Amino acid sequence: MFKHVDAYPGDPILSLMEAFIGDQRPQKTNLGIGLYYDDAGKIPVLAAVTKASAMLQAAPKPHSYLPMEGEAAYRAAVQEVIFGKDSEAVKSARVATIQSVGGSASIHIAARFIKAYLPQSAVWVSNPTWDNHRVLLESADLTVNTYPYFDAAKSRVDFDAMISTLDRLPKHSIVLLQPSCHNPTGADLTPDQFPVLIDTLKRRQLLPFVDMAYQGFGDGLDEDAALIRQMSDAGLHVIVTNSFSKNFSLYGERVGALSIVCEDGETAFRVLGQLKAIVRKIYSSPPAFGAKLVSTILADAQLSEQWQTELQSMRQRMKDMRGKLRAALEVLVPDFDAAYLTDQRGMFSYTGLTEHEVNTLRERNGIYLIRSGRICVAGLNRDNVGYVGEAIADVLKRRGVTFH
Ligand code: LMR
Repeated sequence: MFKHVDAYPGDPILSLMEAFIGDQRPQKTNLGIGLYYDDAGKIPVLAAVTKASAMLQAAPKPHSYLPMEGEAAYRAAVQEVIFGKDSEAVKSARVATIQSVGGSASIHIAARFIKAYLPQSAVWVSNPTWDNHRVLLESADLTVNTYPYFDAAKSRVDFDAMISTLDRLPKHSIVLLQPSCHNPTGADLTPDQFPVLIDTLKRRQLLPFVDMAYQGFGDGLDEDAALIRQMSDAGLHVIVTNSFSKNFSLYGERVGALSIVCEDGETAFRVLGQLKAIVRKIYSSPPAFGAKLVSTILADAQLSEQWQTELQSMRQRMKDMRGKLRAALEVLVPDFDAAYLTDQRGMFSYTGLTEHEVNTLRERNGIYLIRSGRICVAGLNRDNVGYVGEAIADVLKRRGVTFH
């Protein structure tokens, strides 16, 4: 019956994690998957999360089903953290928000919604983008195209090329964007580019789909969401998916959401109903515990402050590690331009290392990078950054030429 089942070629990110776990070498270093490790190389349990967890356990409640759309308090908290306290769209109940299973299921539900209600629209993603974006969108039968984004020679966004492509898209095309900490490149739009982008989207009647998985890892909670808030304030309809995996260090709890900014409250109510219908067809209702942790923290002023302080120290540590790796490379390979490491933000940078060089680092040094050359700087710490710098320098020296 199943003899004809093909072998799974593996996922470029998650299968690499499996290989890393199986690697027995003591010096192995995980710079592949987007996991934030602390300076001791551990995935942190945030103090705010520990306290919220104790509060929940002190007052046990039945493990009933959540509604299809998720917990009401969590959904309200999501709207505030994404759109801000003073959002007109939220106040007017124009935003349909569902809790979902991490960022991934949120993206797939959005894709199924687009397929049902905007069936002619193709989705345009940045070149490059997170490997799984295409998979999640195409599995809802959407057509996925790319717009130019990363200028590898300059290690920054090629904004002119991006805008000139968006300016030619058919109306109602969907444009997938990341508001900060771009995965995989770490290269973001600058705030002075936001109005140009918003004007283009409006003029061409395009629908922005903003995926935010690293809020607070770039410049701050508000700063990292600024593009979304400006879009919403400009009267655009916006699809927003977000994940709390990284900024609450709650990966396995699968805490995410999907929000759709609509024209009015009545439309948002109908959109919410259709999102519920999609959820029912896949997993009925979302898991409860992680969302309860997040809503408990965000509803409590002290816990929320504590979380934001912890978030700030994660952000700062990643910036420090970027600086340390850059400094190490500048000493070891002086004519190599490593400035991109500190120019870029968030967990990821595109190193420009070839697949062969990535393989060499893994096989020879036990250092795991995604085959595209993406490095997760959140896997660096005071003990391994020197080792990683030397290994990358060695690979670059073998190449004999710089890539910038
Ligand atoms: C990543 O890009 O490494 C993370 O978002 C984890 C994932 O699911 O791919």
